[in-house]
Amino acid sequence: MVRNKKRLGILTGGGDCPGLNAAIRAVVRTAEIEFDMEVVGFRDGFEGLVENRYFELNLEHASGILARGGTILGTSNRSDPFHYPVLQGDKEEFVYLDRSSQAVRNFESLGLIGLIAIGGDGTMTGSARLMEKGIPIIGVPKTIDNDLVGTDVTFGFDSALVTATDAIDKLHTTAQSHHRVMIVEVMGRYAGWLALASGLAGGGDIILLPEFPYDIEAICDQVHDRNAQGKTFSIVVCGEGARQQGGELVLRQKVKHSPDNIRLGGISHRVSSQIEGLTNIECRVTILGHLQRGGIPSALDRILATRFGVEAVHLAEKGEFGKMVALQSNRLTSVDITEVAGKMRCLTVNEPLIKTAVSLGICLGVPVGANLKDYFQDPVPKHQAYPTVAVQSDGGEK
Ligand code: F6P
Repeated sequence: MVRNKKRLGILTGGGDCPGLNAAIRAVVRTAEIEFDMEVVGFRDGFEGLVENRYFELNLEHASGILARGGTILGTSNRSDPFHYPVLQGDKEEFVYLDRSSQAVRNFESLGLIGLIAIGGDGTMTGSARLMEKGIPIIGVPKTIDNDLVGTDVTFGFDSALVTATDAIDKLHTTAQSHHRVMIVEVMGRYAGWLALASGLAGGGDIILLPEFPYDIEAICDQVHDRNAQGKTFSIVVCGEGARQQGGELVLRQKVKHSPDNIRLGGISHRVSSQIEGLTNIECRVTILGHLQRGGIPSALDRILATRFGVEAVHLAEKGEFGKMVALQSNRLTSVDITEVAGKMRCLTVNEPLIKTAVSLGICLGVPVGANLKDYFQDPVPKHQAYPTVAVQSDGGEK
């Protein structure tokens, strides 16, 4: 069949986040309205590309989705085309196969000029490899973790920040009434962006970050100091990737077939039992979990996702594949996907928000006045080597 119009593929990969539909809408509208292109949407991330599950996306699909959470395309964080889980005959066992050539064949059979891959580090890493096999790709960065290299911010982050801040605000009033220590655990994987930003926005007294393994004595000193000042409650904002100095990463579960199969969660139970043990002050734990990924996108995320989506189509129209759209110093730009793939962007000692927290007297889990450089541990090269443990709600090991 001879096609007159250029066709573009699109998929959303990895964990969902608010703003995905805004980005899809921007891609479809720009492609159709500005360039008279067609768009094909693959279902469930790379899974749809490997299994040839797709549908023609048109303006009707893109209508009314700007403010809707999730993704109308579906997504998956367990579908690496190079290490693809396939059910083996009647044995009900999975084997891993390289299905990347099938993905390329499916892409080519649709006559697409390129693929817009909206995702996080896993999606960018998969994209870089698929590009080597001949699929022209443009990346669009999303994740509530904000941990992608090459862009100052990913969409999804601001909406999660709004949710986490709202939760901290609510916990403040009950902490105050009961004179308790409230520990709120936020997502973010190995990067502390969400914990730091929500801790600042929500007025947290102690913020525990994966990049600064904590000293429990320093945390308890802060709680005692506040009590001595007549502030009989404390708010601890704890990143899910936080750990004690020399301690383990705390796991919620291990996920079969996922390229990075570790799911963090539960460190706040350990922090809680440690604080109760050392101070005798009553603690309560709130783990926000997937609430942070749900709901409507914030206005900022809608705008960012829209700008990214429009720019991705502009790059595709110009044939500038191999790029991920990005925001740097508030300007829209793009970086090579190969520069992003396989990397993670964590906090550093020089991050301005860290300095802001220190100026405010917020405890970052290290002794007051300590040189932060002495406590910093870059999770990037080491996180896979850290020991892990699962913790139950009394703080003990499972
Ligand atoms: O990467 C986004 C994220 O929400 C992380 O913050 C979290 O650790 C992880 O995904 C949870 O993954 P899943 O949805 O597979 O439990």
